[in-house]
Amino acid sequence: MEKISEKKIKPLLTGEIGSELVVYPVIDSTNNAAKLLAKNGAPHGAVVIAEHQTAGKGRLGRSFYSPNATGIYMTIILRPTLPVEHSLLITSAAAVAAARAVEQITGVPAQIKWVNDLYFKGKKLCGILSEAAIAADGTLNYVVVGIGINCSTDSFPAELEDVATSIAAANGNDEIDCNGLIAAILNHFDKVYKQLETREFIAEYKLRSCVLGKTVRMIQGETSQEVIALDIDENAHLVVRTPEGERLVISSGEVSLKGDWR
Ligand code: BTN
Repeated sequence: MEKISEKKIKPLLTGEIGSELVVYPVIDSTNNAAKLLAKNGAPHGAVVIAEHQTAGKGRLGRSFYSPNATGIYMTIILRPTLPVEHSLLITSAAAVAAARAVEQITGVPAQIKWVNDLYFKGKKLCGILSEAAIAADGTLNYVVVGIGINCSTDSFPAELEDVATSIAAANGNDEIDCNGLIAAILNHFDKVYKQLETREFIAEYKLRSCVLGKTVRMIQGETSQEVIALDIDENAHLVVRTPEGERLVISSGEVSLKGDWR
């Protein structure tokens, strides 16, 4: 994979996301670095990128496999004016931006698995982890949105082998313009972020969803049950129907699709 370079990314940027940008060869987690920068006053739109993470973090306390020079690991610092209860919209906006950019730059048609993963043919290409700091008055102080993309990773640890893939595996090993891809994600996110209030991007989120209309396993903490995914609502919550016919609106947890990847 081409080296990640601030000099190559900067001229491609069209909005305020990425106006401050730092690239590390190696770091524990770009989300951790971004939180520290945010605490120290980094502006809205500042971005931290790394070639390698030694302690990449995933959702629900998991780790994110982040080998050297084969992936994009980056975190965007935001200072939203959105009410806390709508913060899921930010992650969903990032999923739409990343999916658009992956398709535009690499030709891989990425789907979104609620709430924040990008998939190609049933395997995960990209994960997104948002972390928020709430101010004393209950408003959002800052949010960091971490995006991890498997670009040219050609082997995964045993536990990920059946569930993870990379852009290279999906597009027949075409060379990936990773600097172009980073810039495209930031540019698309800049546009989608401006639609948080109007929710315009939710229509595209739904079109890219690989769960709508399907029977999925809904996992919340220790419990799980099969439900039908009916809709994504205007706050990016998942609307499901249980086997008993109850309609539920889900804002946390995750869903898994068993083999139904049409
Ligand atoms: C998930 O799949 O559960 C979310 C993965 C998020 C990974 C990205 S990589 C960049 C940023 N830094 C981290 O430590 N995690 C996120």
